[in-house]
Amino acid sequence: MSPIIYLAVTVVVLVVTCPVNSNGFSCPKVPTNDTVDLEAYMGTWYQIATNAAFQKKFEKGLVCETAEYTLEPSGTVKVNNSGRIDSVSGPLKSAIGKAVQVSGGKLKVSFFLDIFGPYWITQLYGDAASGYSVAVIWSCEEKFGIGERDLWILSRTPQLPADLQPAHLYDVARGMGIDVESLDMVPTLQAGCW
Ligand SMILES: *[C@@H]1O[C@H](CO)[C@@H](O)[C@H](O)[C@H]1NC(C)=O
Ligand SMILES: *[C@@H]1O[C@H](CO)[C@@H](O)[C@H](O)[C@H]1NC(C)=O
Repeated sequence: MSPIIYLAVTVVVLVVTCPVNSNGFSCPKVPTNDTVDLEAYMGTWYQIATNAAFQKKFEKGLVCETAEYTLEPSGTVKVNNSGRIDSVSGPLKSAIGKAVQVSGGKLKVSFFLDIFGPYWITQLYGDAASGYSVAVIWSCEEKFGIGERDLWILSRTPQLPADLQPAHLYDVARGMGIDVESLDMVPTLQAGCW
């Protein structure tokens, strides 16, 4: 079979054999912060924590992780996710992607072809004029009954501000319907990186 036909057959088989929600997965209805000023949101963010599954899949062995967002003239956001391999002095590794604002705090992000995943700004602290300080990003998607759920805490400083500790951010996330416990959040090493 040619690869294209093989792919088409695979997709048809998946659609036919996997009714949506076959494993009971569905995304909770989580509100976004729709007052986000995209220009003020650009620049460098330090990753403070993410869920264990995402860490394992995309950031295995990485420390000192940052996300750098740049607004391009087309309105698309260039995304540069970087980290150091194995140690604070390890070599840099970057993943370059793009993001598009769908509406308000709902963005979508892609690191491969035009395959986008949700990037929802669910908590945003600070303000556009003096600068945002902390953001909590939620990404939930179900495809063919299989769920993918990721959560990130991003901060403008390598350590969170004293008044916005993870316990508080997770409380707010729980209040929005996010099952934080099942995400098994892992802190990102930032100490000694900068
Ligand atoms: C991505 O960010 C890293 C770390 O700041 C930098 O070294 C690299 O040049 C950037 N890559 C691109 C394509 O902007
Ligand atoms: C949205 O974010 C802005 C900027 O941080 C904040 O002032 C506002 O309170 C937030 N709104 C909600 C509903 O969280």
